[in-house]
Amino acid sequence: MPDTSILTACICLLVALFLWFRKSKASFASLPPGPKPVPFLGNVFDLTAKELWLPASRWAKQYVYVHVLGVGIVFLNTAEAACDLLDKRGSIYSDKPFLMMSGELCGCKNMVAFTPYGEQSKRQRRLLHKAFGLPVIPTYYPFLQTGTHAFLRRLVVEPSEYMKHIRRYSGGLTLSVVYGYEAVSNDDEFLGLAEECVGILSNRIASGVGIWPVDVFPSLRHLPTWMPGAGFKRNAAIWKKKMEEFVDRPYEFMKNSMKSGTHKASFCSNLLEDESIKAVDNFEFDLKWSANSMYSASIDTTITTVSHFILAMMMHTDAQRKAQEELDRVVGTERLPTFADRASLPFVECVFKESLRWAVPVPLSLPHRLMEDDLYNGMLIPKGTLIFGNIWAMLRNEAVFPDADAFRPERFLDKVSPEMERKRDPQNYVFGFGRRECPGSHLVDSSIWLLIASMLATLDVSKAVDECGNVMEPTVKFENPIFRTPSQFKCDMRPRSQKALSLIRQSEILTT
Ligand code: HEM
Repeated sequence: MPDTSILTACICLLVALFLWFRKSKASFASLPPGPKPVPFLGNVFDLTAKELWLPASRWAKQYVYVHVLGVGIVFLNTAEAACDLLDKRGSIYSDKPFLMMSGELCGCKNMVAFTPYGEQSKRQRRLLHKAFGLPVIPTYYPFLQTGTHAFLRRLVVEPSEYMKHIRRYSGGLTLSVVYGYEAVSNDDEFLGLAEECVGILSNRIASGVGIWPVDVFPSLRHLPTWMPGAGFKRNAAIWKKKMEEFVDRPYEFMKNSMKSGTHKASFCSNLLEDESIKAVDNFEFDLKWSANSMYSASIDTTITTVSHFILAMMMHTDAQRKAQEELDRVVGTERLPTFADRASLPFVECVFKESLRWAVPVPLSLPHRLMEDDLYNGMLIPKGTLIFGNIWAMLRNEAVFPDADAFRPERFLDKVSPEMERKRDPQNYVFGFGRRECPGSHLVDSSIWLLIASMLATLDVSKAVDECGNVMEPTVKFENPIFRTPSQFKCDMRPRSQKALSLIRQSEILTT
């Protein structure tokens, strides 16, 4: 929670009191169920900064209503509710909250995930679709292959640093695809900048549900920075500077390399060379912010998914062996897997799907803002309510995923109706819903699949053993309020054979 002075707290309290009494009793009568709020402050004390998706799933089965200082928040705990509201009523459920703290004071308002529903968000999403729409994905296969093989090479040299290598892989891939920039080491300046800024965004600015007193009472922004209680303004000034650097520096690098003729083709350079698109109003502004949004959105999501995959393989060696047998049978041991093998590797596909389901990388998705009062199943959802799709609850639904907490890839082999087939596909959940659904989903479908298949083909993952020969059981915590990133755990990762090791080493010669 940001530091606040007694004065700020009193102002908050008075205005909350005013808002509370201004609402008619009727508007409260039919709100969705939720934990009992305390007077004035609402459910401030119910909203934990860590693993909020857990209490949100317990409070009510289908949908939960809470409020913080008068700002309504709904958690949708079922796929049906998310589909009914965020998909089918997308025209009123696709806005984003205007948050004074993150948007204005910290300078994030033009990032795609923050832009209000309207012309700007549509223009930005058009650019993203151009970059990562389904038909374009095969053009990235060479990048994905090179990035995956380089990741394997780093991993066999320094397996205990797997988190660092995943970060370098995902950040490096996006930097090269988006800006044509090649990250040269794990300490690369742009990778470091991205890590710092995404950390500030998720752990500081958007901690809890990301609502600060200044979001509820925008006039607090006029507090002089020196005043006790205005610590949020001092922090925001520092964070805004960092965010601007994060947006500007990789973009400037790309523009300068275009000027000097040394650039590599990238999403940005291709669009800058396209005369028909350049003519669109605000083109360069949109391009710069869309590019940054892809970069910031891809890193922690990828780290979360891949580290869950490693954790699952370590805990479930039976599933690992089964996938490896399939790879040995279909691909053999003389080469690394490619996208051409995908259709012949059904069990690897199950491991990929189950890794996404088990990980739930963004468990509460990102908030959407309701643009007008809405009635749903006899309940009132007031205009301005923030809507969170509780993806965690949907992917732990026992009716669709029996034994939901367990990692069981074979669940996807069970014969089911086409309706259930659609219902149980984790890709229909993990990327969010409706008109703000993740525009990177097709890229992820290819990039993470190849990474998983290549790791399974070449590496054995098992629990680490300490100096005395005792097997070390992993202890995992989830500390990030937005991403379900497991804390780093110890594991043993080594090449499956001498042949696998030479395939990994040779991959450098084959791709250069
Ligand atoms: C495992 C990987 C990923 C997961 C699980 C994931 C998940 C999500 C989710 C849940 C949302 C919120 C959707 C909503 O508001 O309903 C989102 C938004 C977004 N994602 Fe992803 N994402 C992943 C990777 C990526 C990648 C690789 C990119 C870009 C290359 C990307 C770009 C974005 C952007 C720009 C948004 C904001 C969209 C908007 O508000 O209109 N994501 N993602």
